[in-house]
Amino acid sequence: MIAVATARLEILRGDTTELVVDAVVNAANPSLQGGGGVDGAIHRRAGPELAHAGRLLGGCRTGEAKLTPGFRLPARFVIHTVGPVWRGGGEGEADLLASCYRSALAIAREQSFASVAFPAISTGIYGFPRSEAADIAVRTLVTSLATPSALERVILVAFDEITERLYHHRIGPRRPWPS
Ligand code: APR
Repeated sequence: MIAVATARLEILRGDTTELVVDAVVNAANPSLQGGGGVDGAIHRRAGPELAHAGRLLGGCRTGEAKLTPGFRLPARFVIHTVGPVWRGGGEGEADLLASCYRSALAIAREQSFASVAFPAISTGIYGFPRSEAADIAVRTLVTSLATPSALERVILVAFDEITERLYHHRIGPRRPWPS
């Protein structure tokens, strides 16, 4: 865990659909109609209203983020963002992934959320290398959180041990990420 301005950036191992936070971030696809991975888990727990809300939003472009209610989730809201599909790193994937974290945080800031939880966007079905994705996630969040906001807790949710370890190497007790 590290403190950045008024917020705490922390790591949690587990299922983001169980978190009681203002918003969980969803690693969605452009249709916002659900899918596999964390997208599937969020839609299953939130219920069918979530896909309907996604339809009303008219989808989402890669690197951008959109807000819906959380419906049956314990989280109040879902911030849907679409990560880049990894195609070798030469097609702007790193910038697009950073944009996902920035766009989602911008919505959290606009909404004055106090707590938001991020999955490891793009590192599952979309194939983004986990280590580079962890660097981008931590660097982007630390930079964005340097501007004070209502955010108190920003949670990096690790669904597997490797991801958890990668996050801990960057913001664990041993060596806080160089700001
Ligand atoms: N809670 C937290 N993290 C989870 C959960 C969960 N319940 N389920 C999966 N994850 C993790 C994965 O282990 C991975 O680390 O979320 C991260 C992102 O993986 P994916 O969900 O596969 O998302 P992504 O790689 O961004 O691919 C998005 O997959 O599900 C479809 O519709 C989605 O087309 C989109 C694509």
